[in-house]
Amino acid sequence: MSKLLITGCAGFIGWNVTELALRDSNVVIGIDNLNDAYDVRLKEWRLHQLRDKPNWTFYRIDISNQSEVAGVFKEHQGRESFDAVINLAARAGVQQSTKDPCEYYDTNLTGTLNLLELCRKFEVKKIILASTSSIYGEMKRPFREDQSTDTPLSPYAASKKAAEVLCYTYHYLYNLDITILRYFTVYGPAGRPDMNIFRFIKQVAEGSPVFIYGDGTQERDFTYVDDIAMGTLSALKLMGYEIINLGSDRPIKLLKVLHLIEQFVERQAEAKYKPRHPADVPATWADISRARKLLSWKPQVTLEEGIHKAVGWYMENRNWAKDILIEE
Ligand SMILES: NC(=O)c1ccc[n+]([C@@H]2O[C@H](COP(=O)([O-])OP(=O)(O)OC[C@H]3O[C@@H](n4cnc5c(N)ncnc54)[C@H](O)[C@@H]3O)[C@@H](O)[C@H]2O)c1
Repeated sequence: MSKLLITGCAGFIGWNVTELALRDSNVVIGIDNLNDAYDVRLKEWRLHQLRDKPNWTFYRIDISNQSEVAGVFKEHQGRESFDAVINLAARAGVQQSTKDPCEYYDTNLTGTLNLLELCRKFEVKKIILASTSSIYGEMKRPFREDQSTDTPLSPYAASKKAAEVLCYTYHYLYNLDITILRYFTVYGPAGRPDMNIFRFIKQVAEGSPVFIYGDGTQERDFTYVDDIAMGTLSALKLMGYEIINLGSDRPIKLLKVLHLIEQFVERQAEAKYKPRHPADVPATWADISRARKLLSWKPQVTLEEGIHKAVGWYMENRNWAKDILIEE
């Protein structure tokens, strides 16, 4: 049993990692500021699912505010300190980061710095940072962790690059054990409404036009959220400083995903095309040999199963999920 601090616990991945950590009998302290980067009802719904679980405490706190976060560390110092901090809180949209880059840096960089400083002061042994496949930009695929990530295409990806580099410095100077996990397009039930899969499901189910940026042939290494949660917790062991891709190693065209959604919703999409946003990477594909070797991890859920579950969740929750705001 470990005592974990998980930031971004009301977020899509954070909620799933928290659920799994609690199921594995860990004690979880969760932090989230419940910001309105997307419809807050979805974050509240996720938190509601956690409400009665034992060994679970929630703080509504902003990680870019050092004194607020320090308060949580101090409160827990008297008892047992955290065994690990899993930093999943972030401003995460690629296109949105071109509109408000400062917000991205406050959370993704300053927030990470605050946590690193507190981990150093309070002698937390293990830190996990969520990073992203977007960091590879237009590099040759499949993406390997030792490839250059010096040419990210969006302020979001650049902020994650900066956070990764900062983590290395803290590992080097203070011997903090840090694992960077580069996630590849994560999807599943109660997913992010600013991402294609949630948007497509809602638009197809509600009979509204489905907007596709680019020609739909762009490929993503879609990865089911349960696999990501499992991979994240398996990275809690001490490894020094490591960067590890977590992806499905099976790139799929966006139009193929739309067809699967049409099939499960049993309705044809009214597709409308818009120009590709220059901040969006044209394609992703993870080389996951390092995850296999270091974490004995491999994805378990096929795209068909995963999309089926994501559509199932929407249909079950449609009475309120149909009102979730999405940007077209
Ligand atoms: N979903 C993906 O496909 C994907 C892919 C690559 C990387 N990631 C990374 O994984 C992590 C989780 O992503 P997600 O998809 O769950 O996103 P999400 O937006 O659903 O979750 C992030 C959570 O962090 C919270 N948060 C944001 N800023 C905060 C702050 N300053 N203080 C406290 N809480 C704050 C948000 O309210 C939100 O609940 C992020 O670091 C993201 O960059 C996600």
